[in-house]
Amino acid sequence: MTQPKPLIAGNWKMNGLRADLAEIAAMAERVGASRDVAVAICPPFTLIAEAAQVLAGGTIALGAQDCSALAHGAHTGDVSATMLRDAGCRFVILGHSERRQSHGEADALIQAKARAAQAADLAPIVCVGESLAQREAGLAARVVREQALASAPAAGSLAIAYEPVWAIGSGLTPSDEEIVAAHGAIREALAEMRGSEAAAGVRILYGGSVKPANAAHILSLPGVNGALVGGASLKAGDFCAIVDGHPARRR
Ligand code: PGA
Repeated sequence: MTQPKPLIAGNWKMNGLRADLAEIAAMAERVGASRDVAVAICPPFTLIAEAAQVLAGGTIALGAQDCSALAHGAHTGDVSATMLRDAGCRFVILGHSERRQSHGEADALIQAKARAAQAADLAPIVCVGESLAQREAGLAARVVREQALASAPAAGSLAIAYEPVWAIGSGLTPSDEEIVAAHGAIREALAEMRGSEAAAGVRILYGGSVKPANAAHILSLPGVNGALVGGASLKAGDFCAIVDGHPARRR
């Protein structure tokens, strides 16, 4: 299987009002006809329908930050994968550590959500990552491996985001060796599930304090197939600087 082109996805988390659609419009204009790097932006649910209009006809794909594991019905407050696809999404972030922590989401639920996403023709971006205590106990590789095995579907479209919990929003990033080792552990887990050829076709993104200043370096590390960007995706200037700085784009 050929390696898919790198993906840079922006995660707006619980940020953004309608006035901020101007940032998405600016991103669409500046990213233009990106051929070397796939780009996605994941605003909150409330902006998805309007963002789809802003992005129509362009190359930036739209994503959401969560979906239900269920198809439809009496589930007050939930949003199904089919609804997101209908609203124009192509991607959905699942199992972000903020949801694992504050909503008690466990691996089995995350995998069920990922399957629901696939069934609705949405590509899941499943997040895994160790806490600082796990990192300090030498458990990082084991934790990400176990999370990947338990939360990622064994077939179908998929990206994994390696996001060390302690690196998210903190300004801290792991060393190059730590990133390469974690991506390697995830790739091995995927190979066990899917076989090594199919595993090579799954993008493994790095996330956690990716900024214009460090993105090009992180994105050049072996086994890093893109980035999941939080805070630096809120402004078109920063986000587009990360996209433009990708080694594949600068060739
Ligand atoms: P950050 O967030 O880039 O603000 O650290 C990344 C994420 O949580 O996806």
